[in-house]
Amino acid sequence: MTSLLAFDPSSLPTETFDFLIIGSGVAGLSCAIELEAHGSVAVLTKEAMSEGSTQWAQGGIAAVLSPEPLDSSALHQSDTMQAGAGLCDREAVDVLVNEGPHRVRQLIARGAHFDTEPSGELKLTREAAHRARRIVHAQGDSTGREVQRSLSHSALASGGIAVHENVVTVDFLISEDDSGARRCCGVLALDSQTGKLRIFRAKATIAATGGIGAIYKVTTNPPVLTGDGMAMAFRAGAALMDMEFVQFHPTAFAKGPNNPKFLISEAVRGEGATLLNNKGERFMARYHPDAELAPRDVVSRAIAQEILETGADYVTLDLTANTAQEIAARFPKIYATCVAYGIDPAREPIPVSPAEHYMMGGIRTDLNGATNVVGLLACGECACTGVHGANRLASNSMLEGLVFGIRTVRAAMALKNSSCPPSRETGNGKRQTGVARSDDELASARVRVQELMWQYAGLVRGGEGLQRALRELDELQTRFGNPAPTRAAIELCNMICVAQLVTRAALERTESRGAHFRTDFPNLDDADWQRHIVLRQSDGELQIESAPAG
Ligand code: FAD
Ligand code: SIN
Repeated sequence: MTSLLAFDPSSLPTETFDFLIIGSGVAGLSCAIELEAHGSVAVLTKEAMSEGSTQWAQGGIAAVLSPEPLDSSALHQSDTMQAGAGLCDREAVDVLVNEGPHRVRQLIARGAHFDTEPSGELKLTREAAHRARRIVHAQGDSTGREVQRSLSHSALASGGIAVHENVVTVDFLISEDDSGARRCCGVLALDSQTGKLRIFRAKATIAATGGIGAIYKVTTNPPVLTGDGMAMAFRAGAALMDMEFVQFHPTAFAKGPNNPKFLISEAVRGEGATLLNNKGERFMARYHPDAELAPRDVVSRAIAQEILETGADYVTLDLTANTAQEIAARFPKIYATCVAYGIDPAREPIPVSPAEHYMMGGIRTDLNGATNVVGLLACGECACTGVHGANRLASNSMLEGLVFGIRTVRAAMALKNSSCPPSRETGNGKRQTGVARSDDELASARVRVQELMWQYAGLVRGGEGLQRALRELDELQTRFGNPAPTRAAIELCNMICVAQLVTRAALERTESRGAHFRTDFPNLDDADWQRHIVLRQSDGELQIESAPAG
């Protein structure tokens, strides 16, 4: 294992807990709240507690909350597997759809408020590729804000969880016992307010660090999501799976180059909005029988194709059949944000184009969050249970964070009575002190990673472009791979690492499936490729393995 920074554990301030959770989104907090009763718990988070994708989730949480014949677990399972294009792990999907409704009710019992009908029943909406109305939502389109609010409140309420904000984890601490067996014993972290390194030790260390949006030029994710947990896990010898499957949301706000790529929820199409090209034509029926409600990857590529053919910068999403009052009542945040940026959705269609949105791949875990590295667990978007396969069904991600965040408690509890060798961390202290780089140098390398990934490893990829991206990413790694202990330098290393893994896996998969589309291999190839790509580092070398689809 190679740590990014040289450090001497015995000289750094150290705190010890039973359970250490990295990340304070839906997955990390769901896990932390359940663990509190079983031992000492700390949550480390990069900025303020609410800063992550969870806070921004709009459409809602998918769960079967209507009785048959309106909906059933079997139908939710089948929709999830259909979207996953032959790579979902059936057992993981079973867990998701069967445990999901209870976890949503539990969240409500703990204080989350979802929108209800006048009768008091939960209001349920529909999104693309769902065959039933099964999405609960809050304040119309602010579901994530409500989930983050209620979980943060629960986590802080009892005072039993130590929350450390503005702490950026750098690497997992990997120790070897006398027999040479390796295990994770906590993390090395950078306190971004003091600039000092700290050590947090724990029997179980849980990565809940979210997605990788920041490695792409255009993304719906907040900038904190630089793939740190995945890069740290890779350096620690954990297996990463399905890294080629990156989801692009079809409809991010696209007016002008300098406005934010604000998400226009899929629920807007679920409620009847239509997509128009720059000739004012509805085009989706030419691409898929479900038209605007086709799977996300199909809609994203159709929009990209229309943009390419018409030479426009965007297509538009038409809601003008509704009054301003109707739109503002159902989608208050989207309506207000569009108006703030000069578009009144009741009068003119909203300019939209695709943006990176979600990572299906990540740190490979079993159904209880355990990885191949003892002591290291993972849940939420940074983990890969196989539940999403090659493409995630809308609103299954918040559900995954709840269900698997809580299941990770089982693997954490199994470690509670284990011990960590006091201080036999490997691979540290051998490197030269990091190379200091100017802020400008780091910022322009960050932008270069984002451009490379957007251009060559984005919605549509080809072998030549992927090779080119990989060559340049390798050069960037040579230049920036020995960072000084600053947040910007560490994030850049992690971004380069994750970008290399996405590109490597995308190059390896010589077919098109789900969210992964290769121009040079445009067809699905079940005979060769109905399997997962697993990436791992061993003795400093990348190992590319494969795992059967479950
Ligand atoms: P996050 O909520 O992203 O949290 C990650 C945490 O890790 C953050 O606290 C971050 O600060 C911390 N972190 C990262 N690196 C470090 C580090 N090195 N050190 C310390 N802390 C670190 N999904 C749905 O199911 N329904 C929706 O309606 C929906 N809408 C979405 C809308 C938007 C705009 C976006 C961006 C996503 C949406 N998603 C939706 C996806 C969903 O929000 C995320 O997949 C989910 O919230 C991820 O939760 P998480 O807990 O795994 O990660
Ligand atoms: C959306 O509201 O369109 C996002 C839903 C999701 O990512 O699941």
